[in-house]
Amino acid sequence: MAKERSRRYIIVSNRLPLSFIKDNEGIKSREGAGGLVSGMKSYLNAIGYENYVWIGWPGSTFESEEDRKEVTSQAEKLKSVPVFLDEATYNGFYNGFCNSTVYPLFHYFTNYVKYDNGNWETYKKVNEIFRDAILKIAKPGDMVWIHDYHLMLLPALLRASGIDADIGFFLHIPFPSYEIFRLLPGEWGKGLLNGMLGADLIGFHTYDYMQDFLTCVSRLLGYESNIGYLEGQDGRIKRVDTFPMGIDFGKFQKLARNPDVIAEKKKLSAFGSQKIIFSIDRLDYTKGILNRLEGYRIFLEQNPDKRGNVVLVLVVVPSRGDIKEYQRMKVAIDEKVGSINGRFGTIDWTPITYQYRFIDANMLIALYASASIALITPLRDGMNLVAKEYVACKVDSPGILILSDMTGAAKELGDAIIVNPYHPQDICAALEKAFTMPVEEQMHRVGLMQDRIRSYDIVRWGNDFIKELEDLKDMQDVFNAKLLGKNEGPLLSDYKKAKKSLILLDYDGVLTPLVEDPKKAVPTKHVVDLLRMLSKRENTEVVVISGRGKDMLDKWFGDLDISLVAEHGALVKDRGSGWRFLRPLTSGWKEVIMPMLKDYADRLPGSHIEEKEFSLVWHYRKAESEFASLRIKELFDNLSKFTSNADVQIYKGNKIIEIKNAGSGKGLAATYFVNKISPDFILAMGDDYTDEDMFRLLPKEAYTIRIGMVQSYARYNLHDSADAVRLLGKMAQ
Ligand code: UDP
Ligand code: G6P
Repeated sequence: MAKERSRRYIIVSNRLPLSFIKDNEGIKSREGAGGLVSGMKSYLNAIGYENYVWIGWPGSTFESEEDRKEVTSQAEKLKSVPVFLDEATYNGFYNGFCNSTVYPLFHYFTNYVKYDNGNWETYKKVNEIFRDAILKIAKPGDMVWIHDYHLMLLPALLRASGIDADIGFFLHIPFPSYEIFRLLPGEWGKGLLNGMLGADLIGFHTYDYMQDFLTCVSRLLGYESNIGYLEGQDGRIKRVDTFPMGIDFGKFQKLARNPDVIAEKKKLSAFGSQKIIFSIDRLDYTKGILNRLEGYRIFLEQNPDKRGNVVLVLVVVPSRGDIKEYQRMKVAIDEKVGSINGRFGTIDWTPITYQYRFIDANMLIALYASASIALITPLRDGMNLVAKEYVACKVDSPGILILSDMTGAAKELGDAIIVNPYHPQDICAALEKAFTMPVEEQMHRVGLMQDRIRSYDIVRWGNDFIKELEDLKDMQDVFNAKLLGKNEGPLLSDYKKAKKSLILLDYDGVLTPLVEDPKKAVPTKHVVDLLRMLSKRENTEVVVISGRGKDMLDKWFGDLDISLVAEHGALVKDRGSGWRFLRPLTSGWKEVIMPMLKDYADRLPGSHIEEKEFSLVWHYRKAESEFASLRIKELFDNLSKFTSNADVQIYKGNKIIEIKNAGSGKGLAATYFVNKISPDFILAMGDDYTDEDMFRLLPKEAYTIRIGMVQSYARYNLHDSADAVRLLGKMAQ
C-alpha cells in the first residue's frame, strides 16, 4: 500500500479517460480506447481515491473558444483538464512524431518510421504545452504521474521548471533494444532519454524493456546505473524499475456473473454449438491481425472437420484512422476476412464474424466468458491487457489462451499456449492443440494464470509504483542531507580562519568532467588559474592527487607552485622539488600481466590499455557496457590467480580497471601530506572508488567531498565537477 494518500495525484497522458466529440446534438463524451486509459481508470476506481486530476488531450481538435469552454466545463466535472491543440499541431504531434515515428520504431516497425524535423519540433512544442498546463494547476507536494510515449520530454521540462513535486513516468509500450533505438537521429534519441530521466521514477512493463532503456542511457548518455538507481543531468537520484500492469481481477470475476453480462451472453447462443474463438484489438499493424487470420485460414484448410463447428469472432476497434499504415491495414483486413469467408463459408455457416467498432464492457465480458479460445497474437505489444481480462473472466467454463510471445503479458502468462505471431503455421498448430486440450488441463492452466493476475492486479501495480516513488523521496532526502549545501558556509569560514590548509584534489571528474577519451580531458584555463590563485595564498598547500601518469600532470600543472601525486599515490612531487616514489615499488609484474590485458582489450572493442610506470589501466568507457561487464568478470578471475602471489592490487574505478602495486594508494599519499604539514583545515575532493581510500584515512574533521550522488566514506557530496570548481572559485576569492 502507498504510505498515505493525502497528496493530490496529477495524472498526465495524451488521451483523457473520456474523449469528447461534437456532433449535431452538441458536445458529448465517450469511452476512450486502449490499455493506458483502461488500466489507469480501473486503478483509480479500485482504490476509490478522489484527490486527483487528469490532464490530457480531449480527443478532438476544438478550434472555437465557445467549444473549448464547453469541453473544459464538462471535463471539470470528470476531474479532467483538457489540453487543446490546433489541427496542424495535433497532426505533427499525434499523427506525426508520436504515431509515425516513436510508435512504429518502439514496436520494431522500422520501415514505417518517418523522419521529419518539423514533427520533432512540434513534439517538443506540445510537451511544453503540457508542461504549462501542469504548472497552471500544480501545488507544492503534488505527485505528477506522466504516461506514455507522447510525453517523453515532459518529465525533464517539468523538473527544469523548478516544480516542487515528485515526478513519475510510465511507458505503456515496449522500449526497443539499442540497435533499434539508435535509428533515431542523435538529437532526438538523446532528447527522449534525457526527457524521461527528468522523472524520479521511470517504470516499464517488463524487465527486458527496462534493461534496453538502461543500455540506451549508458551508451548514448554515458550514465551508469546501479541496481536500477542512477543520477541524471539534474543531479537527483532516479530509479528505473519494472511494474507489469495488471487488471482489476475481482471486478472482472464479478462482472462475468453479472445479470447484464449474462443477458449479453444469451445473444451469443445464436452460435449454437460452434466453439467461439475470440479476438479483439485496436486496428493496429502491431497487433498481428493479418497473420492471425492467415493462421486461422490454414487451420480451416488443414482441418475440414472443424468447418461449421467453430467461429472466429473478430472485433477490430477503429484507431488512428488518419495515418496511412492504419488505413492500409483496414483494407487488408477487410479483404482477408472476405476471402476466408468466401472460401470456407456456407449458407448456414460464416467462419468469421467481423465487427469494426468499439464494444461496450458488458458485451466484451460476455465474449470473454463465452469464448472457448482467445486468440491474441500481436507482433509486438507492450503488455496486452485483453489477454489478462480473458483469463479473469473464466469463471464458469474453462478456456484456452493462445498468446503471442511478443507481448509483455507472455512474461507472466506462461501457461497460455505461447506462439510466434510471425509464423501463421505456428498459430494454426496452437489452434489444433487447443482443440485437443483436455478440460482438466485447461482448468489447471487457467487456475495458474488466475493466481498470477489475482495477486499482481491493477491495485498492486499502481500502489507499487506510488510507494516506490515515495521511498525514493526518502532516499533522495538522505543524499540531499549529505549535499554540501548549507555546510559550504562553515567550510569557507574554517578555511579563512585556518593557519595551515591542505587541499587535496583528484583530477578526472573533479577538476574536469569525465569524457569518453581521457586524452581530451585537458584542464581549462579557469581551473589552472584557480589552482594558481589558491597556491599563492601563503598558508595553503594544493595537491593534485590523480591516477594519471607524471608526464601528463607535469604538462598541465608543472608551472604551478603546487604538489602533484601521480599513479594513485605511487609517485609524489612535493612543491618545488622533483618526482620520487612514496614507497619503493616494483614493476616486473607488468611484463606478465600486460599480454593478458592486451588480449582482453583486443576482445573488447572500444577499450584500450594505458601503461604507466607502476600501473596498467584498462579503459573501457567507449565499450558496450554489458559486454564489458562480462569481460571484466573473466579478467578478474584470471588476474586473481596471478595477484594472489604478487604484490599488486586490482582496482575497479569509473570505467577503468587498474592494476598497481599494493600499498600505493591515494590514502597513503594523503596521509603523507597531512603528516608533513600538520594542517588545521583539510579539503579533499574525489569522484572515484580510488578516492575512498583517501576519505577513509583522513582525520574526521577534514572536509571530504565525493563528487556524484553515491554512497561514500566522504562526509559530503557535490553533484558534479562544475560544483567542485565553483567551490574552489569561492575559496580563491
Ligand atoms: N477495450 C474496450 N472495448 C473495446 C476494445 C478494447 O473496453 O471495444 C479495452 C480492453 O478491455 C482493454 C483495453 O481496451 O482494457 C485494450 O488494452 P490492451 O493493453 O489490450 O491494448 P492497447 O489498445 O492498449 O494496445
Ligand atoms: C496504446 C497506447 C496508449 C493509447 C492507446 C490508444 O495503448 O499505449 O497511450 O492511448 O494505445 O491509442 P490512441 O492513439 O487512440 O490514444
